[in-house]
Amino acid sequence: MSYDLIILGGGPAGYLAAERAGHAKLKTLLIEKEHMGGVCLNKGCIPTKTLLYSAKIADGAAHGEKYGVKAKATIDHAAVVKRKDKVVKNLTSGVRASVQASGVEIVDALGVIKGRTSGGYTVEADGKAYEGKRLLIATGSLPVVPPIPGVKEGLKDGYVMTSKEALAITEVPKTLVVIGGGVIGLEMASYFNSAGAKVTVIEMLDKIGGAIDDDMAKILQKNYEKKGVTFKLGCKVTEVKGGQVFYEEKGKTESVPGDKVLLSIGRRANTADIGLESIGVAMERGAVLTDEQQKTNVPEVYAAGDVNGKSMLAHTAYREAEVAVNNMLGKRDRMRYAAVPGVIYTNPEVAGVGETEASAKAKGLDVIVKKVTMNYSGRYMAENEGGDGIIKLVVDKKWNTLIGVHMIANYASEIIYGAGLMVEKEMTIDEIKELIFPHPTVSEMIREAVFQL
Ligand code: NAI
Repeated sequence: MSYDLIILGGGPAGYLAAERAGHAKLKTLLIEKEHMGGVCLNKGCIPTKTLLYSAKIADGAAHGEKYGVKAKATIDHAAVVKRKDKVVKNLTSGVRASVQASGVEIVDALGVIKGRTSGGYTVEADGKAYEGKRLLIATGSLPVVPPIPGVKEGLKDGYVMTSKEALAITEVPKTLVVIGGGVIGLEMASYFNSAGAKVTVIEMLDKIGGAIDDDMAKILQKNYEKKGVTFKLGCKVTEVKGGQVFYEEKGKTESVPGDKVLLSIGRRANTADIGLESIGVAMERGAVLTDEQQKTNVPEVYAAGDVNGKSMLAHTAYREAEVAVNNMLGKRDRMRYAAVPGVIYTNPEVAGVGETEASAKAKGLDVIVKKVTMNYSGRYMAENEGGDGIIKLVVDKKWNTLIGVHMIANYASEIIYGAGLMVEKEMTIDEIKELIFPHPTVSEMIREAVFQL
């Protein structure tokens, strides 16, 4: 059987590319080995947000007295997980249906590239050979498993979990040790803290949240310390043994007990055993090397999503997939990464886009940095008794353009898109001053901060 396009992987990059290609009348085959929707829908973004929403309701009730509301809330974790499974099932079947509705065929099996043919490339799946004029590699990523003694064994016997297992457990552990204070570690720490676990986060660096702005990281940490989460920063995990996680702190070995351990120290591109070497796809640090049109070094072979190791976010994957399909169709399009928003769905939420103060300075950019408390927002004040949120702008001094926006406050995840638009379109501060924001909203803080520059 012969196709215009064969896509390997049915996550955000793969399924969106399939839909776009199908609508553009490319004869397309999508091969998915596990679940349509990939990590994002099945064991990442969506299940996590479902859990975190339940936690938000419980947290709101727990602090109701501050707002004149008396309530008592407890999280029924098994019920939360059941609802999460329902949401995931609805969404994954919706994705399958819309891919099929665009005229794309789906094969539920592992696809392996076998080599070149005169008309393109051969891919084997479920014992059958398929030929594609073009290929899109969208095989996603896997959790990094470090060679720390006890981790591999722990993953085998269920004591150590990755985010996938953590989203499926039906009982809340009394104590949870999180290895890695990045995005996954913090979102999971947030949920399990609300659900009643005593959480300790061990992070190698001296800040949480990876690349997020330093001020956001500090405020977020303070918020979670108040909620009872313990952070061990600048600490390297050395061993997992006998219900304890051992780590090195200032040259000394310490340990913390945990009923369960979550491993969240990053993800790596999933490139093994899919036959990339059979057609000579070039790699860089374990990921498929792509250019700004999502092309690999092999003609008519594209890659999008986590597998190229660039951004590892579902929304980047969507856009990379569109860029790839547009280029297959001969439409000019290129991928730009300067305005990819990042969100941590904790409570409060953290969101950012563009340069942070640190990244701008590291690039030698001449910038103005403005920090403004969220207390200037009427809506923020109405809804956040004792809140300590801030917004921070990074402005390019030479061009007077907004090149970075970072905020910690609820609704930040929804507001950041507007800031991303300003950064992407290289809007000047004077242009932003002319925009009208709805009142009262937390989004008005962008306007407020711009006028305080
Ligand atoms: P991450 O890269 O965000 O964070 C990993 C953290 O682990 C880093 O802070 C690192 O310093 C630390 N670390 C590494 N080795 C360590 C060690 N041996 N001991 C202690 N700490 C150590 O990776 P994470 O959280 O696993 O997330 C993986 C990917 O999933 C990310 O690329 C992220 O973008 C994506 N993701 C995005 C979400 C969102 O957009 N809201 C939610 C969840 C995941």
